[in-house]
Amino acid sequence: MVNFRRVEVIIRPDADGAARLAARIIARQLRDNPHLVLGLATGRTMECVYGQLVQMHRKEGLDFSLCSTFNLDEYVGLAAEDPHSYRHYMNEQLFRQVNIDRRNTYLPNGRAPDLEIECRNYEATIARFGGIDLQLLGIGQAGHIGFNEPLSALRSRTRVKALAPLTLQQNAASFAGMDQVPRRAITMGVGTILECRRCLLLATGAEKAEIIAQAVEGPITSMISATALQLHARCTVVVDEGAASRLEGLEYYRRLFATEPEWEEFRNQD
Ligand code: F6R
Repeated sequence: MVNFRRVEVIIRPDADGAARLAARIIARQLRDNPHLVLGLATGRTMECVYGQLVQMHRKEGLDFSLCSTFNLDEYVGLAAEDPHSYRHYMNEQLFRQVNIDRRNTYLPNGRAPDLEIECRNYEATIARFGGIDLQLLGIGQAGHIGFNEPLSALRSRTRVKALAPLTLQQNAASFAGMDQVPRRAITMGVGTILECRRCLLLATGAEKAEIIAQAVEGPITSMISATALQLHARCTVVVDEGAASRLEGLEYYRRLFATEPEWEEFRNQD
């Protein structure tokens, strides 16, 4: 029987500390289970996490050789070699810097001849690996996880999504202007994400404060797909002070992290 817990919120003093803690949670899971099936995300917030994991690989011998990874999403129309593709991002930020077997790293193929079949196959591959053990997540300003834009069905599966105007705006910085951002992406669905055994959401910076408060403490709504994480059996939200600043339960969250025995090894590392 699934042991439903709660959304856990951990607040670190700054963005570096938050990324370090997220990386440590991943590293702990990987050490406990070298065959970990790890779900990955891209974006600016994650760069620090991958930087930390690379350091742990170099300095502490963190071993990726037996693990497999599934990314949340990929732009439609971009080839793997395109510097804007998420495959390229992952190769640069993590895969080529650690001892992972590239054949065990999966992202949707945004150039597949039949995108519907590609989405179905992606789900089937995740199932063949026994599901995702730990899914790393960022959050967009519109509240998306993956590219599950507003009004994504809370039970949705991997599919093609048209990007919302706010997402196009948010991602324009990585392209040469907003009109260069692909209009569509393949993304795991909210339902796919909810099936992962554990979720780890990382958000940093005051510009994420409002959406984090809505995601964690607001009502569940398909307008903000991250609110669906409240239905998850185990979701850990790691934020810095900036992203935490609109949360109402701050004192309680701080006390849980300071006193719950399971966080001891993480408290003492910072
Ligand atoms: C990308 C993804 C997105 C990002 C989100 C935050 O794979 O899943 O949901 O995590 O858009 O992006 P940044 O970190 O750039 O603010």
